[in-house]
Amino acid sequence: MRHIILIGFMGAGKTTVGRVLARDRGYAFFDTDRLIEEKTGMKVSRIFAEMGEETFRSLETEILGGDWTREENWILSVGGGLPLREENRTLLKAIGTVVYLRVRPDTVIDRLRGDTSRPLLAGDHVKERVEELMAYRSPLYEKAADFAVDADGKRPKDIAKEILGRETAGKPEDAVHTMASHSAEKNG
Ligand code: S3P
Repeated sequence: MRHIILIGFMGAGKTTVGRVLARDRGYAFFDTDRLIEEKTGMKVSRIFAEMGEETFRSLETEILGGDWTREENWILSVGGGLPLREENRTLLKAIGTVVYLRVRPDTVIDRLRGDTSRPLLAGDHVKERVEELMAYRSPLYEKAADFAVDADGKRPKDIAKEILGRETAGKPEDAVHTMASHSAEKNG
């Protein structure tokens, strides 16, 4: 049984690397933003605009606390703000191996230039906002993770390989699996 959860800042490559991992292993792939959009029928940016960030954060906790036992093996990529809640960090550790994709602010700024899908980075002063958010969040990502991988300038497939190498060498398969009823993207 392999359950790997990718955390990290917006633009760190969680979804891309998650898909590569899932395809490589033939595992199911989930992404909390997509699960929330499926559940609400609304885009993340619209949820932020019409219902506020706190409502979105509660939806994240709800999704994370669902049933993750339905699929034997899966990869989960989570929104950049999800590990900020202590409750969520506890849930993450309970359901799988938590991997932090660590990137520098410049990487995020380069990758998300022109992106309009992230409400927290909309508008001006993006560089300052990324630096400020990252300074606050980085220690929490470190705390939430079983291990971190530096992702700047690396290809998704190399990051995936590094994760699998470290994951196999590391944590025993003792996770508690208490959830299910989500639709996975099928791979392999
Ligand atoms: C957020 C990250 C986004 C999304 C929402 C809020 C954040 O997901 O959940 O816009 O607070 O960092 P990605 O990390 O996949 O961009």
